Amino acid sequence: MVELAFSILAADFAHLADEIARAERGGGTIVHVDVMDGHFVPNITFGPPVVQAIRPVTKLPLDCHLMIENPDEFIPEFAKAGADMISVQWETCPHLNRTLQHIIDHGVLPGVVINPATPVDFLIEVLPMVHHVLVMSVNPGFGGQKFLPRSVERIAHLRRLRHEMGLNFRIEVDGGVADDTVQSVVRAGADMLVAGSAIFNAGKAEENARKFLEIARQATEVSV
Ligand code: DX5
Ligand code: ZN
Repeated sequence: MVELAFSILAADFAHLADEIARAERGGGTIVHVDVMDGHFVPNITFGPPVVQAIRPVTKLPLDCHLMIENPDEFIPEFAKAGADMISVQWETCPHLNRTLQHIIDHGVLPGVVINPATPVDFLIEVLPMVHHVLVMSVNPGFGGQKFLPRSVERIAHLRRLRHEMGLNFRIEVDGGVADDTVQSVVRAGADMLVAGSAIFNAGKAEENARKFLEIARQATEVSV
């Protein structure tokens, strides 16, 4: 099933609860929370207190994408704040197996993220232990960037690996996913679609989410 994980990075922060409710009414089923530290990526966003603040305003799962150095140090806090899924960047984790186990031990679904320049095959050893793999389709740090077309082949490659290894992790994609790019990533195998600016632009998250999902689902009909 194809799901919309709307990224609140592009939302109106002064009305976060309303924005989440609008995206949810439009069919969004996962809240994607972009955590940036100003070191791993050249931008700062939010931390566990924001996760804790939005936890009571929605029943949807909170998907925390950690773009931070030393993520192990913060996993307990994000888990306590109410994260349902935590993904860490391959590039920040010299002991990735241990970091993913740390997430599992906190009762949270573990994910691993790869930047556009990181080969998909570098994930082979950890694929059996992840709930989802997030393929970055821009270099992380900012919303509103242009989708990198090679991401489509990278998603397809990951889908082939999943099949060959007999696994069932989910494939998430993040960055520049919008009405004009979403069908290509769905056809390649992505089923958790992160979108920020495509959803929250013009304060019309409900309408935007509905249209986005309609376009995404057309791609699944074509591919079967
Ligand atoms: C980028 C973040 C994304 C971002 C997506 O570093 O990980 O989740 O918010 O934004 P759009 O959909 O605008 O590319
Ligand atoms: Zn993200």
